[in-house]
Amino acid sequence: MAKPARKRPRGKSSPEPEPEETISPAGVEEREDKWNLRPRTFEECIGQRDVVNALSISIQAAKERGEPLDHVLFYGPPGLGKTTFARIIANELGVQFKGTSGPALERGGDLVSILTNLEERDVLFIDEVHRLPRVVEELLYSAMEDFTVDIIFDKGAHARIYRSRLQPFTLVGATTRAGLLSPPLRQRFGIVRELRFYSPEELVQAIHRSARLMEVEVDEASARVLAERSRGTIRIANRLLRRVRDYAQVKAKGRVTPDIADAALKLEGIDEAGLTPLDRRLLEVIVLQHGGGPVGIEALAATLQEEVQTLEDMVEPFLLHSGLLARTPKGRIATEKAYQHLGVESEENRQGKPQRELL
Ligand SMILES: Nc1ncnc2c1ncn2[C@@H]1O[C@H](COP(=O)(O)OP(=O)(O)O)[C@@H](O)[C@H]1O
Ligand SMILES: [Mg+2]
Repeated sequence: MAKPARKRPRGKSSPEPEPEETISPAGVEEREDKWNLRPRTFEECIGQRDVVNALSISIQAAKERGEPLDHVLFYGPPGLGKTTFARIIANELGVQFKGTSGPALERGGDLVSILTNLEERDVLFIDEVHRLPRVVEELLYSAMEDFTVDIIFDKGAHARIYRSRLQPFTLVGATTRAGLLSPPLRQRFGIVRELRFYSPEELVQAIHRSARLMEVEVDEASARVLAERSRGTIRIANRLLRRVRDYAQVKAKGRVTPDIADAALKLEGIDEAGLTPLDRRLLEVIVLQHGGGPVGIEALAATLQEEVQTLEDMVEPFLLHSGLLARTPKGRIATEKAYQHLGVESEENRQGKPQRELL
């Protein structure tokens, strides 16, 4: 017999954000967003159709059987919808959402208290799940596999282990790269899904949706300008839309035109391809200081004074996606397209011409 989904006071149509359901800083970003641009149902979601279709089926099947949904791992660059999808899963299942993050779970006890407070079939979301401390991660293994957790009382000779049974729940983990997870943790997720960059058409849709919620008028041509400069990322599209809205309000009586959008984005340091100053500096270092590469990521990080992980998680994925950067076993190389974008002639094009001083 299929058990019906539990009734909750908060349904799909609840208009308010749900800050009190968030245990740790995982939810900070959406509280800043007074418009609440985050979609709450799969229907409201733009793009990622393969992810939406597969999850919808698994959710319906789990609901019909009255079982918790398999554990889900989302991976992909920041701002593509990992947190959003985790919340939608809870909403579509009709269960509570509890959110935390890897770095926030410092001690085993932090995780145990969250786990023991979960109700049947709840969704526990762990953002940056690759950053769980080892002891916490190990506790998670049995929790995910048999819904049990070992609680250790006292230390040394007096140590006693008490095995506690948990309510069956669904863990939703998010990480920028699946490869950052240890194999034992990764193997315990039944559903592993990559979120991909959005196409310009999808970003146009997202911008129209957000503009409607923010009550700002954006025509098709302006939406296109924004979409092309959002690095395939809805979070960036939303952020740029806010900047364009400010600019239009101050400089153009609130009317957004392609020229206004363009001027506002220039002010933000965003170029025609949507590259940020850091994106461009990375390409420039490869092209101007390393003859186009290959150059190792550590050397790039040192020159740019950035963390390797920042470059790998936030900068490189879009440059690779847009064909400006390529990865080889020896390091990163700038493509012909990167040379064109920077307005620098490449080695191949310079054959026969006198060497030009690049720096
Ligand atoms: N499929 C989508 N459709 C519409 N908006 C989306 C979608 N995915 C993400 N967003 C928007 O983009 C923003 C960033 O998404 P988020 O889930 O926080 O990204 P991540 O957790 O992957 O960094 C959210 O505020 C949300 O409004
Ligand atoms: Mg997130």
